[in-house]
Amino acid sequence: MQTFQPPAQTCFIGSANPHHAVYAVEEVRRLWPDLTAKELEENEIVLLTTSTDLESALTLLKQKEPMFLRHVQPVEQVGVLTRSQSDFETFAAIAQQETRFCPGDKVAIQVRRTPGITYDYTAFGVKEKLDPLLVEQFGVEPVVRDADWVISLYLGKDQFYWGVSHPADNLSDWSGGMIRFRQELGQISRAKFKLLEAETRFRLDFSQFHRAIDLGAAPGGWTSLLLERGLQVTAIDPAVLHPSLLSHPQLTYLARSVNHVNLPNQTFDLLVCDMNGSPQQMARLVERLLPTLKAGATGIVTVKLLHKKPFQTVKEVLAIWGKTMRFIAAKQLYHNRDEVTLYVQKED
Ligand SMILES: C[S@@+](CC[C@H](N)C(=O)[O-])C[C@H]1O[C@@H](n2cnc3c(N)ncnc32)[C@H](O)[C@@H]1O
Repeated sequence: MQTFQPPAQTCFIGSANPHHAVYAVEEVRRLWPDLTAKELEENEIVLLTTSTDLESALTLLKQKEPMFLRHVQPVEQVGVLTRSQSDFETFAAIAQQETRFCPGDKVAIQVRRTPGITYDYTAFGVKEKLDPLLVEQFGVEPVVRDADWVISLYLGKDQFYWGVSHPADNLSDWSGGMIRFRQELGQISRAKFKLLEAETRFRLDFSQFHRAIDLGAAPGGWTSLLLERGLQVTAIDPAVLHPSLLSHPQLTYLARSVNHVNLPNQTFDLLVCDMNGSPQQMARLVERLLPTLKAGATGIVTVKLLHKKPFQTVKEVLAIWGKTMRFIAAKQLYHNRDEVTLYVQKED
């Protein structure tokens, strides 16, 4: 007896940061009005179902990428899960039915298990079993990154969800959008991961910029990344910057509040801001320094979600900058907690 079948309607698993899936669902519903959402993990992982065909549903998602949706994976087969070794036979049977793989294609297998549930195998164990089978049957190359195809397998308690897609159609090519960076020896702050992720997510290359202003820079994770990328950095924060940075020849450190600095106009081509406090207050402080940016300068700004009204908060921040800053994107990054990251550009 076959223990798996395609879902009746277009179906994706959507992942958001903990406690934020509710916002992702709200955004997706604006794109797919008949959306039904079922929680797989509380306010974090949801099964998104619509009568819109898969291609159109995906196009809508990619055209207006939801701020809180970190990752999606298509669900092409739903099956019964025993959580024992016998599941491998089911997974192998589905894999063998695949028609899209060509010899030489790079195929990644991304398996996620539900936390708190016991399985007789690991996520890596599934990959270990399936990889040789895919190599033998299709002549594909198993990879972890830079895949042509991703097999996404989400394991629930007694059901599993299987889908195959191009990584670009998953919004992130990391399993569940959980992008990982290696912690470096002597790394100044974990905040550095946020800026690294913003660089990847927004397809930026900070080494292409020349002069950056870092608002709320201490202890200096973001500043250290920009210095590593070869930029001249003006770091502003009344709090202390890490001593390892202070003698850097490319660094200017202004140990005071942003509202007490005066800098020449049209100086910087990159503004980054990770100041804590009220988002509206942060936006006004940033506004004061907008004349110091060159036309076309890029801004990467963390917006703290203090009042749980994320869409309204982002709108208010953008309204404070008015026409001076053009909105490019807003995303809750994997490394953001109760905050989102804005990507803006100064108008020419
Ligand atoms: C989350 S931390 C920044 C971490 C930093 N991005 C890093 O990578 O290490 C927030 C910083 O904003 C600073 N801050 C808050 N209000 C500020 C203001 N008005 N002017 C300058 N810095 C401010 C705080 O002192 C604090 O160091």
